Amino acid sequence: MPRPTTLTTRIFLDSGSPDDTRSTLDLLGFLDGQTTNPSLVAKALRADNPDIALKQQELMDAYKGIVQNISQMIPHGSVSIEVYGDKDTVAETMITQGREMNTWIPNAHIKLPTTKAGLEAANVLTGEGVRVNMTLIFSQAQAAAVHAATFGAKKGDVFLSPFVGRLDDRGENGIDLISRISDMYKKEESHVEILTASVRNIDHFLASIAAGTDIITCPKKILDEWAASNFITPEATYSYTRDDLSSIPDASVSLTQSWQEYNIQHDLTDAGLQKFADDWNALIA
Ligand code: G3P
Repeated sequence: MPRPTTLTTRIFLDSGSPDDTRSTLDLLGFLDGQTTNPSLVAKALRADNPDIALKQQELMDAYKGIVQNISQMIPHGSVSIEVYGDKDTVAETMITQGREMNTWIPNAHIKLPTTKAGLEAANVLTGEGVRVNMTLIFSQAQAAAVHAATFGAKKGDVFLSPFVGRLDDRGENGIDLISRISDMYKKEESHVEILTASVRNIDHFLASIAAGTDIITCPKKILDEWAASNFITPEATYSYTRDDLSSIPDASVSLTQSWQEYNIQHDLTDAGLQKFADDWNALIA
């Protein structure tokens, strides 16, 4: 199946498994990229060996092998590789990891958490020409800070990953955040591209496309559903209506401040960072 002609949004797979890359390519006939994270890599490694326990270096080597395998299957796509980070990880440590991971494959986007240290690392790495994907986004202020911290990078080099499902989980309509950031970025012609993540259902998939996301990453099962729908694409007016969710109001901020000035604190970013670190550390002997 070639890409639907009405679809300009790029479609990524959200998985730490090269087997999923292969089966998605077979399913869709195309794939624009793949996102990985510590939890997804842990899941893929445990699927092969439930009792896995590795040394630090062995774990990094396993991650490298996984992304190299994925990269070979989608050489013209993007593959996101996430640095290890917890609340105490400083920018310099993320920068060192990011530089190293960027040598693993030619088509990497280095995933960094949207924390103060992550933004500082993004500022340095994009200045060196490294592509980045800023993850665990839950607010417009964080999106503004990413724009400011990576200003000067070219379009295609900076992705921003809002997690819609995790906002839904706590009663807020995550798709609203996609619309708000999309409107805010359009006004300023931002270089940053929105990559909708934490996609839990086909409605999220269609609504985020209608809301103006540049890219969407989803688990294989959502792409299976999309294929089963004969690759439906939404009207621009498609909306995600959920009476049980409160809408997220516009909290536009100017994009011209320095990145250190934005209030980027968000509980879900802190919790997400901790979960990634826990899942990663649980693999270490
Ligand atoms: O790409 C991020 C995504 O994997 C998170 O999804 O379902 O754990 O919120 P979820």
